[in-house]
Amino acid sequence: MRKSLIVYETQYGTSKKVAEICSLIVGTAKMADINAVPANVDTYDNVIFVFGFYGYNTAKKTKEFIRNNKEKLLSKRVAVIGVGISVRDLDRYAEELFVELGRKSDFTAFVQGELIVNKLTVEDKKVLEKFFEKANIPFKDMGHFKKEDACNVAARCAEVLNKPSLVPSREELMLAINEFVRQHNTCALGTGAGEFVRCTPIEYLYLNDAFYFISEGGFKFKAILQNPNVCIAIYNEYTDMQNLKGLQVSGQAEIIPLYSEEYNEVMKVKGLNLKNLSNMPIVLNLFKAKVSKFEFLNSEFRKNGFDAKQVLVISE
Ligand SMILES: Cc1cc2nc3c(=O)[nH]c(=O)nc-3n(C[C@H](O)[C@H](O)[C@H](O)COP(=O)(O)O)c2cc1C
Repeated sequence: MRKSLIVYETQYGTSKKVAEICSLIVGTAKMADINAVPANVDTYDNVIFVFGFYGYNTAKKTKEFIRNNKEKLLSKRVAVIGVGISVRDLDRYAEELFVELGRKSDFTAFVQGELIVNKLTVEDKKVLEKFFEKANIPFKDMGHFKKEDACNVAARCAEVLNKPSLVPSREELMLAINEFVRQHNTCALGTGAGEFVRCTPIEYLYLNDAFYFISEGGFKFKAILQNPNVCIAIYNEYTDMQNLKGLQVSGQAEIIPLYSEEYNEVMKVKGLNLKNLSNMPIVLNLFKAKVSKFEFLNSEFRKNGFDAKQVLVISE
């Protein structure tokens, strides 16, 4: 797994909050204040810089750090996450970091921070009072930091920075996934709608590139009927870190009409007699999950020179 160092430069703590969220979501990570960055940056594959906007003083120490570590940063993936009131300032402040870096970052994003007048230092208050008076803008609390925005930025950042770099061919990966899916017959099916979440252990049938589930009914349908997005986990019992195997499948659920052609085909493959089924006092429901993405963590990939975690996107 790629390791990330998250370096934040903050005065009022919002960038630190963003860094904490990145550390949790990007994962395999450690965060550091710009004033206490670990000496050994070599350990990390990714570096994420998070900093607040402060006019001419923006990211002063971050820029100095990049200048002093330019060579080491060349071989790493770099993200730049700016925190401020105005998204329009992002391009300018990010560009200043790119100049030090000698190239653009692999990921750049903005998270809205906050400016709370009665939390400002006397000095900052004076500077801003003057600035807003000149611009003829009322000087009051501004910005709204939203955890949700920071989570979304961190997730997008993770997708770019943690993308595997040593990747088998699509065919090879699909073969490995198919083999693993066929070695198992039960998964944990995650469903949810609003506040409601459910995780259901359930037998699956993998047919025509989709996962089919037969069910008498239950609360998973409460979620699926309102939100078709599902996630499936198929995994081996944990033994040690050198033998990890777990597959996460993202997809969309679809309820198959009773006794339709597709329903009948799947029931036949399952060895269920259609006549007996229709004579039963209850119905067996059928739904499928169409796959949009596989994420496969398999220690064996590493033995063949590939990253242990691979991603196969089927449809966007
Ligand atoms: C003196 C001062 C200057 C600022 N300059 C900018 C600016 O140029 N652009 C902007 O969008 N926000 C500006 N802000 C707002 C901060 O970027 C915002 O409060 C941010 O959340 C601070 O991040 P931090 O808590 O990590 O230090 C300024 C705030 C202060 C106090």
